[in-house]
Amino acid sequence: MKCLLALDQGTTSSRAFLFTLRGEPVALAQRPFRQLYPRPGWVEHDPLEIWESQLWAAREALKEAGVGPEAVAAIGIANQRETTLVWERATGRPLHNAIVWQDRRTAPLCQELKEEGLEPLFRERTGLLLDPYFSGTKLRWLLENVPGLRERAERGEALFGTVDTWLLYRLTGGRVYATDPTNASRTLFFNLHTLSWDEELLNLLRIPGAMLPEVRPSDGDFGETLSELLGAPIPIRGVLGDQQAALFGQGALEVGQGKCTYGTGAFLLLNAGEAPVASPGGLLATVAWSLSGKPTYALEGSVFMAGAVVGWLRDGLGLIRESAEVEALAREVADSGGVYLVPAFTGLGAPYWDPHARGAILGLTRGTTWAHLARAALEGVAFQVRDVAQAMEAAGVALKELRVDGGMVRNDLFLQIQADLLGVPVLRPEVTETTALGAALMAGVGAGALDLEGVKGAWILEASFPPRMSLERRQALHQGWRRAVERTLGWARE
Ligand code: G3P
Repeated sequence: MKCLLALDQGTTSSRAFLFTLRGEPVALAQRPFRQLYPRPGWVEHDPLEIWESQLWAAREALKEAGVGPEAVAAIGIANQRETTLVWERATGRPLHNAIVWQDRRTAPLCQELKEEGLEPLFRERTGLLLDPYFSGTKLRWLLENVPGLRERAERGEALFGTVDTWLLYRLTGGRVYATDPTNASRTLFFNLHTLSWDEELLNLLRIPGAMLPEVRPSDGDFGETLSELLGAPIPIRGVLGDQQAALFGQGALEVGQGKCTYGTGAFLLLNAGEAPVASPGGLLATVAWSLSGKPTYALEGSVFMAGAVVGWLRDGLGLIRESAEVEALAREVADSGGVYLVPAFTGLGAPYWDPHARGAILGLTRGTTWAHLARAALEGVAFQVRDVAQAMEAAGVALKELRVDGGMVRNDLFLQIQADLLGVPVLRPEVTETTALGAALMAGVGAGALDLEGVKGAWILEASFPPRMSLERRQALHQGWRRAVERTLGWARE
């Protein structure tokens, strides 16, 4: 039996999944790694922990399935995006911790660039906004704060990469130094129209071009793994950002089809077709994938806190022991009793884009219980996705249904809340690990082991959640949410 191996390097854990060539799951291994919070608003990862946990997961998945490397037709990589790494070309030694996408340290730099009137230029070229979320200002921070980095980068001795590039470099023993357009399109210095690094933006950000990887198609040839890593060389034939991988894995290959993935954050992406789109309102334009060099674009609404809110109830508050317990706790009450939890722990993403917003719980009364709080936490995630859907509607793309995936979608109550607050049916496929599935399918396409019909065929509906709430109630609740959000904006501004 031939398999596809997906490496899903996420924000809180590294996972590896084996799938059949038809996209049926065979085996899974997962290893969490440390989240480092050196200062309020800062989030880092140890690059070696990312690498070692990912390698461990890959080996473990093969062991679990009882297959050797010869059974793997190809590897596909899907990764947390925007997270920024620098390392030494000669040795692969990291030169700093990875600065994670959630990190807010470059908010002042983003503000400066905005004040210089540069946002429209960045927006038009990259589809993004001036927010600390993206790699560009993180890399600039590293160049200014790691002694000697700029000089070494200019001499070509120090390299930049997102997590895909870092893993490729390690997996191939430094032979492949590359990324794909989906990851490149999250940097703030990749031109969405020419699909290449943008000289002018690099100059504005003061980033040396010598430290950037080559950009290859998402289904391109990314070399082979070193034989000592997994027992024999395995071809790497798919690379894409995790959210784009989920869009692919949801079979959203037609214009207008979309999905929302509820991982650490929640990311709603819509297939926008083959021509670069302008990013409307508080949304982003981005590359969905490039197949044999032919790009497909997407519209994206990025919500920073989703599963992480449940993680906070568990680890921060100790309210539940396991994430799955949140459903039973929230079911103890019929509604949140007027409580709103705005999870702006790391600022707010789409459509507000406020790095200074901070979390809040509003509407507490003497009758409020932990169950209300748990329910308000789930609603807070669903409201954020509704905000994004509304922004998409304002941009002329109305959702008719929403395909969902990621850790939170095993929670039926949450999906019902999401359908009620959105007013459209929410569809859950059989494989909810769609990010990994998408990476595997991309590698299958890259290896010539399957075609796009095969990709579409891998999507099978498991459950549908039609909305049950009246329009009046939905609107009233949403109005309360907007009032709550208003109060969190700008909170941490100095
Ligand atoms: O843009 C950040 C995103 O790629 C992180 O994904 O699944 O780790 O929440 P996840």
